[in-house]
Amino acid sequence: MKVGILSGGGDAPGINAVIRAVVRKGIQHHKYEILGIRDGWRGLLENKFLSLDLKTSSGILTRGGSILGTSRTNPFKHKDGSKRIIRNAEKAKIEAVVVIGGEDTLGVAYKMSELGLKCVGVPKTIDNDLAGTDYTFGFNTAVAIATEALDRLHTTAEAHHRVMILEVMGRYTGWIAVESGMAGGADSILIPERPFDIQEVCNHIRRRQERDRNFCTIVVAEGAKPKGGGEIVYGETVDEFGHAHLGGVGYYIGKEIEKRLGIETRVVVLGHIQRGGSPTAYDRILATRYGIAAVDLVNKRKFGYMVALKGKKISSTPLREVVSKRKTVDLELFKAASIFFG
Ligand code: F6P
Repeated sequence: MKVGILSGGGDAPGINAVIRAVVRKGIQHHKYEILGIRDGWRGLLENKFLSLDLKTSSGILTRGGSILGTSRTNPFKHKDGSKRIIRNAEKAKIEAVVVIGGEDTLGVAYKMSELGLKCVGVPKTIDNDLAGTDYTFGFNTAVAIATEALDRLHTTAEAHHRVMILEVMGRYTGWIAVESGMAGGADSILIPERPFDIQEVCNHIRRRQERDRNFCTIVVAEGAKPKGGGEIVYGETVDEFGHAHLGGVGYYIGKEIEKRLGIETRVVVLGHIQRGGSPTAYDRILATRYGIAAVDLVNKRKFGYMVALKGKKISSTPLREVVSKRKTVDLELFKAASIFFG
């Protein structure tokens, strides 16, 4: 059987570990032929492939990015996109596709499955907001990087008696903000799930001052919004899935704090540093287990499913369930983090 594999959406550390595992298990155990599809769904629209074998997929376990490339291409926004995909897959003799993606890329996989393309999903996003799995690969690495950033900001905040704001990724959910904020002892954490009141943030800073702690660290997810207001966007353009380019909420909060409290404030937008580079050991292992499980789903002809982590076990979830909701931050976890605010 010839199995295609693609990675779509924002990259996440561990994509190459998935590719390596799919190739290794697919070729050695199932005698499959594995064909890389370049740049997400765009590769199937434009017939851009890369043949993968044991040699070309060797030495990539630790590498960030994706040897296949990625894109935010939505075939349903292109003329005859879905038909072209089915036609091109047939032409390339691809019988099944392993789709590594987040909600957008897997949303396309779900719709394409309904149209007859045999797809198996692998949950990828540093945001960890995919339903149907406890963890997406890439998230652990992003949390580790954000935590290190917060540790470093902590010492300089203390030395200068400043407020330091760390803006992390998280378009619709604050998983990275909550976990890195807890790990780094943030004095306030702002997430998209709970619109914030700037006065409450200022109260946290004041409370610390009353305890003679004259510096403060705050973590904010890029998608956090003030009560009654909207997200802060970087530009007016949206991608093919309708998402705006977010960024700047950290600066909004910083200016408000300086205005209201007169305390020197600095802002760091961590951005794509969270997504680039080598995956943590945890993500390498999770991505490898996902890759193996994805090939096994293909072998069992269990199409229209996504591999998933539930507790400590790898299992699977129907793509229909994955794309119908979003996994938001566990509010119990947020409550635990908030005990340390102020
Ligand atoms: O993949 C998810 C994500 O990392 C979001 O947290 C972020 O908003 C978005 O990607 C940014 O992606 P890009 O700048 O690559 O379009």
